[in-house]
Amino acid sequence: MSTAKIPVITIDGPTASGKGTVAQKVARHLGFHYLDSGALYRLTALSALRRDVALNDEHALAKTAEHLHCHFDGAHIFLANEDVTTAIRAELVGNTASRIAALPTVRQALYGLQLSFRKAPGLVADGRDMGTVIFPHAPLKVFLTASVEARAQRRYKQLIDKGFPANMDDLSKDLTERDARDTNRSSAPLRPAEGAHLLDTSEMTADEAVAQVLSWYAAL
Ligand code: DC
Repeated sequence: MSTAKIPVITIDGPTASGKGTVAQKVARHLGFHYLDSGALYRLTALSALRRDVALNDEHALAKTAEHLHCHFDGAHIFLANEDVTTAIRAELVGNTASRIAALPTVRQALYGLQLSFRKAPGLVADGRDMGTVIFPHAPLKVFLTASVEARAQRRYKQLIDKGFPANMDDLSKDLTERDARDTNRSSAPLRPAEGAHLLDTSEMTADEAVAQVLSWYAAL
């Protein structure tokens, strides 16, 4: 099958909107591959933090992204053979990822790697710009939203479950700041792609959101 014919479902949305959970479940249901594009920005951030790369050195950050030695094995994410599945979820790493993701050269350095995830029989890709920039011709594009309260609650639970410290007030503030940065940047800002289906998951379970995405896909 030529790459252009391999179906892609894009699921974009703000941090902690539930897109990772929904995208993984949709992928599993359809037997499709899964791309967690945020993980690539988080891996770049972790690698830069560990190597003391200055966060204003755009050239060095782009090089870090370009030479990312990472691989995905099921739910596990590796950076140079070290399992960093948990380490990349720390708030400092997420925040750093959001900062460096505003740099166009870093985004460019990760472009080809993201495209390479498009393999038969199909791909579900989640992130901020999957539908707007990376896979603009995807047959199904979804934009997930949820209230700040619902998202802070979810992020709180995720962090506590992973053994990280968490505080609701700090999380709400952090989410709001990160949304503003991801939405207001000039390079690939967070916004619904043209033709995207909007889905507010504040009052929905993950399975209800998955069922909605699958029914949109079935109706194509
Ligand atoms: O989805 P996430 O929280 O794991 O993403 C971490 C950061 O990476 C997010 O704050 C913005 C950035 N990101 C991006 O700019 N573009 C993407 N496609 C995915 C993530």
